[in-house]
Amino acid sequence: MDNIPAGDPRCSSQRQECKAMKNPTLPADLNLQVELPTIMPRSKTRPSVRHTAAQAAIEQDSEIPSLTEQELIERVNQLRKERHAVILAHNYQLPIIQDLADFVGDSLQLSQQAAQTDAPVIVFCGVHFMAETAAILCPDRTVLIPDPEAGCSLAATVTADEVRQWKANHPNGVVVAYVNTNADVKAEADYCCTSSNAVKVVQSIPEDKEILFLPDMFLGLYVQRMTGRKVHLWLGECHVHAGFRAEDIVNALQRYPDADLLLHPECGCVSQCMFALASGDLPADRTFVHSTGGMVRHVRESRTPIHLVATEVGMLHRLSKEAPQKEYIPVKADAICEYMKTITLPKLYRALRDMVYEVRVEEPIRSRARLAIDRMLEIV
Ligand code: 13P
Ligand code: SF4
Repeated sequence: MDNIPAGDPRCSSQRQECKAMKNPTLPADLNLQVELPTIMPRSKTRPSVRHTAAQAAIEQDSEIPSLTEQELIERVNQLRKERHAVILAHNYQLPIIQDLADFVGDSLQLSQQAAQTDAPVIVFCGVHFMAETAAILCPDRTVLIPDPEAGCSLAATVTADEVRQWKANHPNGVVVAYVNTNADVKAEADYCCTSSNAVKVVQSIPEDKEILFLPDMFLGLYVQRMTGRKVHLWLGECHVHAGFRAEDIVNALQRYPDADLLLHPECGCVSQCMFALASGDLPADRTFVHSTGGMVRHVRESRTPIHLVATEVGMLHRLSKEAPQKEYIPVKADAICEYMKTITLPKLYRALRDMVYEVRVEEPIRSRARLAIDRMLEIV
């Protein structure tokens, strides 16, 4: 076990974007135990969505560029009936996509919906690993994603080969993979988890087992702190959430001292916030670490009129619909996931019209990944 202090150069040499580790303000006594992978991961490049093939197909389409938004909506509504399709959308999707979806939710809720639906066609408006999860759970349905290049910078930080190497170094280790991973990585995991049940999943694992948690180090640190377990961390991060700094939280609270603070556990500042909470520097009765689904539940139930939201800004539309009488302030207004925003109305229409792009996960990866996902769904 290596303890990497804040600012340790080993961190930046392995992960170009490991910003929090370089952050000199990270408290020294955070018990930041980080197990380095034996084989140094290749340098990861973020998937690019600048001009995807699906976007090019829309631009060259003989019908779509001439349709108005209203016409696109009407066609989507017509086709979803004809195809008996269900549209699932993540909480970060564009407002128009959220408004058209049959169900909007967080990663866990979307997996549960996919597992429950008997619709023959699932159009998944989210990022690719989420559609893959639906395909793993529903091999007999047609799962479509409107743009298959909607990736995830966090999922891109770990490969199945790297997990195999990590496991080889820890024969007693239990691998807990955040759902933001590709199917072949899930196939190497013992358990999957989402941000809403990560703590419970780790708590369910016998105390004598070592936990190998991947790929999000901030969620892993949060889990370590909440469970008191020794957790080996993969040094992965989401480029959107890693950008949240303790200063952003402090500034927001200075402007809105009476607001509730809603923090996603992937945020780069979540460990510092937990520390600040423990030391009384953040208000314990108004600071909440939640998955996106947990944030929705919170605003439904809370009596506080103003909420500071520390996650991707798509969340604000969802919260405003759930509890419109309240005010929502983004802690970082430029926290935008370009992968989530790759899914647009014209692409949703084309997905239903042309039945593209089908997402399939082949055996034996599917069955092995399914085991880890089923364990996740049992622990809610
Ligand atoms: P949730 O499961 O909380 O919706 O998070 C998914 C995600 O991708 C966060 O970036
Ligand atoms: Fe992935 Fe981050 Fe986008 Fe979530 S916000 S889908 S973790 S890149």
